[in-house]
Parts: sequence; structure tokens; C-alpha cells
Amino acid sequence: MMREDNKKSLASQELLERVDPAKLPRHIAIIMDGNGRWAKNKLLNRIKGHEKGIDAVRDVVEACREMGIQYLTLYAFSVENWRRPASEVNALMQLLRNYLLKERDNLLKNEIRLSAIGDLDRLPESVRKTLFQVIGDTAHCEKMTLILALSYGSRWEIVRAALRIARDIAAGKMREEEVTPEVFSGYLTTAPVPDPDLLIRTSGELRLSNFLLWQLAYTELYITPTLWPDFTREDLIEAILDYQKRERRFGMTSDQISELHAKR
Ligand code: FPP
Repeated sequence: MMREDNKKSLASQELLERVDPAKLPRHIAIIMDGNGRWAKNKLLNRIKGHEKGIDAVRDVVEACREMGIQYLTLYAFSVENWRRPASEVNALMQLLRNYLLKERDNLLKNEIRLSAIGDLDRLPESVRKTLFQVIGDTAHCEKMTLILALSYGSRWEIVRAALRIARDIAAGKMREEEVTPEVFSGYLTTAPVPDPDLLIRTSGELRLSNFLLWQLAYTELYITPTLWPDFTREDLIEAILDYQKRERRFGMTSDQISELHAKR
């Protein structure tokens, strides 16, 4: 157990026993939605929802680490979120910085490498400095990679990749014919992390909200009505159990997939 104050419930242990360790998703991505509604339902300020959301982040990071998930990507702040009222943006930035400062030692202790994707130059200097400090401090950690999507937008990322490819072609570093989907993936901010196997979205919204549009091409989607601040390790295990029931065909037939499994 990583934190003494967070005892694993019996329900969570029972659920965990049903998880097949051989079929764990290697990479889980989460759209953490519903903080504002959670607060509103309780007649609280929206910021309280984000604060409670951070507790859910801690629990989910811890649970993923314990289960052996290799990569966890959290959509913490979208490029569109800059359009929110300045008071909410400032509060989110402050919460993010505090999270990084508080969590640094825990990440190191649990050998979790921190990484970030997005237009990070837009983050306030104090946040960026702390972020890169923790990224540097945890760079040697190998048990799990936690990727925070900050000021992230998938269209921004795809356009940036296309421009970089165009520049490399113009500079003679690459030929047009060499641009394959795999090469393109290498120009995205997520490279060299494998595409997510499972995407979880909380609060019941049925959209991708400009999140990892390229990388989610063959990802299994799991939408839960639970609002992010209420999302627990049990909810995470439920999502993984649901994922393990699915057959991932990547465009092939069911028979072809069975043959592939038999050959392994
Ligand atoms: C969506 O809820 C959530 C966000 C825009 C921010 C997510 C941020 C956190 C969980 C805390 C900071 C994260 C880290 C990693 C430290 P919403 O505000 O859109 O909710 P609503 O749709 O109900 O209004």
C-alpha cells in the first residue's frame, strides 16, 4: 500500500481479483470531466470540484501504479480551457502547481516518471518551472509514466506535426514517400509512447473534446456517468474489467484474431 491513509476496500480487493494481469491495458487515457457539476450539485464553488478532482487523480495514479499499468495520460487542461473565466484558470494553475510540489516525493518513491504534452509555453512561468523540475527529477523512474495533457489540443498537435514534417522534407531530411502513419506518429507530442488501449471519460459526455484524436484510432472507449471527483479505484477496476471483455480486432475478423492468439 502506498499511502497509509488510503486503505484498499474489500470491494476493491474483490474486484481486483477478477482482473486478468495478462490482459492489462498498457496505456490508459482519461478525460476527467464533471468537476464543475460535482461542485454545483453540492452548491459549492467550481474550484472545490477541481480540488476534489485532485484527490481522485491521486487515487487513480496510485491504483494504476499498483496494478502495473505502464502509461497513464490525464487530460488536465485543454487548449480550449484557456477561454474559461480568469479566476478559474488561475485557480486551476495554482492547483496544478501545488499538486506537482506535493506529489514530487510520492512520484519518486513510487518510481513514477512524470511527463507532459501540450502547448506548455502557454503555462504561467511558475507552473512551467515546477513542471519541468518534477519532470527532470523523475526522469530516471521506470515503473510507470504519468503524462499530463496541459494546454493540450489534438488539432494543435496534428498541425504542429504536419508543419514539422513539411520542414524536414524541405530541408532534405526526409522524402515525401517516407511519410507513413508510423512516421507521422513519431512527430506527435506523445512519441514514443504507445497509443492508449483504453480511454475513460467521466460525467457521461459522448465526445472526445479534441483529445488524442490520432492516437485513439483503435482505442477502446469507456464512458461512465460518474463525475470525476467521485471516480474511485473501484470505478477504474470496473473500466479495466469491461475492457478485458472486449475483442480488439484492429480491422481484422474475429477468426483472424483467434488464429493470432493461438499462434502466440
Ligand atoms: C473538467 O471538469 C475538468 C477540468 C477542466 C480540469 C481537470 C483538472 C483536475 C482534475 C485537477 C487538476 C489536475 C491535475 C492532474 C493536478 P469541468 O470543469 O469541465 O466540469 P463540468 O463539465 O462539470 O463543468
